[in-house]
Amino acid sequence: MKILITGAKGQLGRSIHKHAPLFTSLDITYTDVEDLDITDMPALEKYLSAGNYDYVVNCAAYTAVDKAEEDDVKAFLINTKAVENLSVLSKNLNFGLIHISTDFIFDGFHYKPYVESDKPGPRSIYATTKARAEEVMLANALNGLIIRTSWLYSEFGHNFVKTIIRYATERDSLNIVCDQTGTPTYAGDLAETLLIILSNKKIPEGVHIYHYSNEGTASWFDFAKAIVSLSEIDCTIEPIPTEAYPLPAKRPYYSVLNTSKIKNDFGISIPYWRDSLAACLKLLPKETEGFS
Ligand SMILES: NC(=O)c1ccc[n+]([C@@H]2O[C@H](COP(=O)([O-])OP(=O)(O)OC[C@H]3O[C@@H](n4cnc5c(N)ncnc54)[C@H](OP(=O)(O)O)[C@@H]3O)[C@@H](O)[C@H]2O)c1
Repeated sequence: MKILITGAKGQLGRSIHKHAPLFTSLDITYTDVEDLDITDMPALEKYLSAGNYDYVVNCAAYTAVDKAEEDDVKAFLINTKAVENLSVLSKNLNFGLIHISTDFIFDGFHYKPYVESDKPGPRSIYATTKARAEEVMLANALNGLIIRTSWLYSEFGHNFVKTIIRYATERDSLNIVCDQTGTPTYAGDLAETLLIILSNKKIPEGVHIYHYSNEGTASWFDFAKAIVSLSEIDCTIEPIPTEAYPLPAKRPYYSVLNTSKIKNDFGISIPYWRDSLAACLKLLPKETEGFS
């Protein structure tokens, strides 16, 4: 099975690269913007026509949620228009497309975990570009999966875990928002799941939406507390409301994803978020940013 990864130098792309050696049936090519800019339709068409891929896993994205409020044209180009490009090509060239979306497409006014059929209600530019990408993929792609995930972190790149460790090491206390609830998700777990799905060839025809996050729920405050506690850093984490830490982009207050569908359809089990966090933290001092 021939697979192409776009955005391979990001957190998820690097996590797939790390876990892929165990999946020997998959022949994976890794690209990032310097080799394959997914917003460049002629280049994309040429590259994909020559490659004869069975699946493209789109890990490329504009993920700077607050910056996107000002940089909406670029965010739309990468997060929506490029997904339309990939979707159209998936039909013309007959490959499956696996695209990663986000819990932020929901408005966050729910009281129970979101299921795949719940209506999106994006509250920021980033979230709007991602929600529109789902629409263009559903309208244009032949076969594939839209996998919504949440609060992604890993040993690679920049993320909340690394930011908290840095600040907690420098300061005696940190104020962290306690009224937004979601689920931290270790990119290594999502990467393994994608590789299992691809290697087991059980992907249904058509385009289907799935939710994948780690098990359990947390606020950013809970998440930060777990990071300092598991890392044994002496820093007090204080809870604050969202209004006390205003950011350019609005976030959903509640964005827990119901993951029953992906577990049932693909027979996978998902680790509890705190267990995966502990596993990731053990890797941090040793892991390099290296990518080949
Ligand atoms: N991070 C989260 O908390 C989170 C939560 C929910 C869902 N997601 C979704 O999960 C997916 C993976 O996220 P991630 O955290 O792994 O993202 P990431 O670390 O920001 O990686 C994205 C990668 O895409 C590359 N890229 C940007 N523009 C490109 C282009 N035009 N062509 C090809 N590559 C391009 C980026 O390169 P540069 O760095 O050079 O721009 C980067 O290497 C994304 O779809 C994201 O929306 C993320």
